[in-house]
Amino acid sequence: MTERTLVLIKPDGVARRLVGEILGRVERKGLSITALELKTADRELAGKHYAEHEGRPFYPGLLEFITSGPLVAAVLEGPRAIAAFRQIAGGTDPVEKAVPGTVRGDLALDGQQNLVHGSDSVESAEREIALWFPHLARS
Ligand code: CMP
Repeated sequence: MTERTLVLIKPDGVARRLVGEILGRVERKGLSITALELKTADRELAGKHYAEHEGRPFYPGLLEFITSGPLVAAVLEGPRAIAAFRQIAGGTDPVEKAVPGTVRGDLALDGQQNLVHGSDSVESAEREIALWFPHLARS
């Protein structure tokens, strides 16, 4: 079934010039990029995006990091796009969870500056797409 997912290449990915490397992996996997934008998130957008993590010890640092510079927001589409991108990304912890062959397993070390975000469910994807690309929201 075709799905949509919201992906961020976080500020560390842009600063490290890994945008092409990461989007190349997405395209080689067979997912389509249907929206793509370079932007710097303000705290309001970042807070809404990560609302589920409010109160966690890493939340203030996460907002600081995600608003620290330009990031790339994208909508990807394809069969099982949500799981497919999470497979490409690898687990949240780039050392303990992400395996070699994944973006985080190959290219990241830090649990917070872990290069990418991908929606974790259809509901999250639709909520996140509406935040980052309001014109693509489905009501
Ligand atoms: P992401 O997949 O975008 O979802 C939440 C983000 O919070 C996660 O990637 C990391 O960037 C960050 N994060 C999750 N767990 C931790 C942690 N234990 N310490 C610091 N940052 C974290």
